[in-house]
Amino acid sequence: MDFDIKLISSTTSIMSLKTDCLVVGIFKKNKLSSIVKDIDKYGEITNILKSGDLNEKLGSTLLLRNIQKINAKRILLVNLGDKKKKIKESNFIKIIQSIMNVFCNIGASNLLLMLPFNKIEKYNLSCLIIRTIIIISDNLYRSDAQKSKKKPIKINIKKIIFALDEKNYIDGKNAIIYGCAISKGIELTKNLGNLSANICTPTYLENISKKLSFDYKMDIEIINREQMQRLKMGSLLSVTHGSSEPPKLIIIKYMNGKFKEAPIVLVGKGVTFDTGGISIKPSYSMDEMKYDMCGAASILGTLYAISEMNLELNIIGVIVASENMLSGNSTKPGDIVVSMSGKTIEVLDTDAEGRLILCDALTYVERFKPSVVIDIATLTGACVVALGHHNSGLFSRNDEKHTKLVLDLLRAGKMSGDTAWNMPIEDRYQKQLKSNFADISNIGNSSADSITAACFLENFTKKYVWAHLDIAGVAWKSGDKKGATGRPVALLTYYLMLKSPNINFK
Ligand code: BES
Ligand code: MN
Ligand code: ZN
Repeated sequence: MDFDIKLISSTTSIMSLKTDCLVVGIFKKNKLSSIVKDIDKYGEITNILKSGDLNEKLGSTLLLRNIQKINAKRILLVNLGDKKKKIKESNFIKIIQSIMNVFCNIGASNLLLMLPFNKIEKYNLSCLIIRTIIIISDNLYRSDAQKSKKKPIKINIKKIIFALDEKNYIDGKNAIIYGCAISKGIELTKNLGNLSANICTPTYLENISKKLSFDYKMDIEIINREQMQRLKMGSLLSVTHGSSEPPKLIIIKYMNGKFKEAPIVLVGKGVTFDTGGISIKPSYSMDEMKYDMCGAASILGTLYAISEMNLELNIIGVIVASENMLSGNSTKPGDIVVSMSGKTIEVLDTDAEGRLILCDALTYVERFKPSVVIDIATLTGACVVALGHHNSGLFSRNDEKHTKLVLDLLRAGKMSGDTAWNMPIEDRYQKQLKSNFADISNIGNSSADSITAACFLENFTKKYVWAHLDIAGVAWKSGDKKGATGRPVALLTYYLMLKSPNINFK
């Protein structure tokens, strides 16, 4: 799909615009938007509306043809709700979705969106255009990579054009570049999340990472099992014991910022399949545990997006990839392992494996002297219980140094629509991780599982400013639309865009 901007000045005659379809707004009680007033010189549209053909419901549409003296082949009227009120974010998404539904079924190959973008609550123009592109790309996505016959998407539309005035033209053009970059990053992340675990192994993630690094001239380093042993990553290695797939620690360096500027480090959980290990999971829905590498996949999607946008930052993506399987070699409940930090860990539950691989990666990244470290992980089922599929859980220390990071991430979430919710890390929870035999246990005692998981990680992040995103609820959808969502690529990319000197958002 192509996107473009059409410059509309005060002298542009809308009647003479050539397009397959002009998309314009109508408000409640058939009130016309100013653009419709402009083009309804002969009262035809007003008459049609009087007939009651446009449903009163927000998002309803009515397709018109052969309107007198108008060059556009079709006009699509969209009900935007109450004229006096701002359009809510959720309603805006509804509107875009219903416009897309119409275009899946008609012959138009391009369309010109003339919607009042300034009437949408809380959003600025750039964010709106980016969001629209993300929603449309999401609509057009199909998870058919492993189907023998791919059904082509039945849609004629090739180009979507936003009509903007001169003062918004440049912002609009840039927003299209950003929106397309983020959408492609999201698509990469979805593709990886949807791939079956017999294909998407740690070695597969290594190969994809190598390809991405080659395409965008990033340095890449792979740490294999022997090197992990030399680095004394006993916690990470304990998770890999049950699997015959070799684990990989993948380090990708995007160094496009100032020389010697401290990097932002992103660490992603890449468990390519989580059986739970000896603390085995119930078999119902266990297939979904192929998504347990979506933290890793979101790092690749984000690196893709920021490379396309050429952000002027130093960013290091670290993917810690392993399977969590059962075998005669598997780690057993009660086993005590020595992490790279030297801390000993009692593995009371082998299904709490994410934190075991992340803690060694989090110790490893100390060497980069990062300005900020953010880890991204499908870490706990409890996070799905707490926040559902709407928000990522955002965990960080509650002190001055971390406040800015938390606020920046929350803001990036709001702007992108890929939202997060702040959750606590406190000593009271930290105490739940006490072990009788080791320095720390890998599970708390049954309550506040996602918080104790974050507390566990906190122990390994004392040397830098850090936040943890639990994406267990947002990284995919269950049910008949089962599949990866590509979250939180948009959140992460916005966070980085807002830090990059060459991106200016209004
Ligand atoms: N990968 C799971 C978390 C998960 C569960 C993600 C459901 C997505 C959906 C993680 O490794 C896990 O198994 N966590 C345990 C932790 C528990 C043993 C403390 C969980 O959530 O049950
Ligand atoms: Mn698990
Ligand atoms: Zn897991």
